[in-house]
Amino acid sequence: MTEVKIHCGDCAGWLEKAPTGCFHLSFLDPPFNQGKDYRRFDDKRDAAEYWQWMTGILAGVRRATAEGGWIYFMQREKNAEFVLRALRESGWNFQNLVVWKKKTSAVPCAGKFGLHYQIIAAAANGKSPRVFNRLRISPPPQPGHKIPRENGVYVTDVWDDIRELTSGYYAGDEALRAEGGERFHKQQAPLALLARIILSSSRPGDLVFDPFAGTGTTLIAAALLGREGIGVEIDPENVKCIRKRAAEKRKADAAAMEKLREYYAHTENLRAVWGDSFARARQQSGKTENKPEKRLLVA
Ligand SMILES: C[S@@+](CC[C@H](N)C(=O)[O-])C[C@H]1O[C@@H](n2cnc3c(N)ncnc32)[C@H](O)[C@@H]1O
Repeated sequence: MTEVKIHCGDCAGWLEKAPTGCFHLSFLDPPFNQGKDYRRFDDKRDAAEYWQWMTGILAGVRRATAEGGWIYFMQREKNAEFVLRALRESGWNFQNLVVWKKKTSAVPCAGKFGLHYQIIAAAANGKSPRVFNRLRISPPPQPGHKIPRENGVYVTDVWDDIRELTSGYYAGDEALRAEGGERFHKQQAPLALLARIILSSSRPGDLVFDPFAGTGTTLIAAALLGREGIGVEIDPENVKCIRKRAAEKRKADAAAMEKLREYYAHTENLRAVWGDSFARARQQSGKTENKPEKRLLVA
């Protein structure tokens, strides 16, 4: 596992000092401005103000992203229009609108269909992405299909095979708990989601950035996959949690990631994409100098 770097503070201010062109991939899972209870954040702002803020952050991330680097921006489905506009206005080149279909029941709505997915808009900095690994998965046969596919299938833009972390039984050991047993952070994303993004859109050794780090899922996934992870989080309690999560090298995190290896087994060149030989080589050589995150630490 490579090292995890986390900065406590406001990502907008931090991004102003980040070197140009250093990130290869960023994942943004900001508060969605829907009145959720955050200790250090007003999640009920004027919509125009919120989207102006988001567009500024997207522009800051793009300036700090290498040519062809990726961004994945997660949001509520009802914000699709604003997401695409904010990406365009901040200069990103749209690639995919991923539908992350939830495994839990849909949110019921009166007078319209119930809500069953979140969106993740993927875009590149420049004409074309610098890397895209076509992952193959081994999903169970669809109803009506009796024979499993021998070589798996390519991942598409509908992700219906990644379970969100819930408070109950299915959250398992991966969900971080506070002392009373309740979840430490209700928005903790599953490692499987970040693994898919990191494996498809970066190479081992790349620098992966998360400006709204929360519990550090992006950084932990990056580290377990032989990438460098750097994040910003405004809430000191969350920062403490990330540091502890990284230092503890939780078995549950490693196990969640290891479980995926079999699922992606039909991916061409999986060993190279996964990055464990890279992590091992770095560990053996003890080599850390001239890495971009070093410059970021002193910025
Ligand atoms: C939806 S959560 C991210 C959860 C994360 N993906 C995970 O898996 O744990 C959003 C996070 O952004 C943080 N945040 C809000 N405003 C911020 C800001 N201006 N700069 C940095 N972090 C911020 C919140 O404290 C919260 O932890």
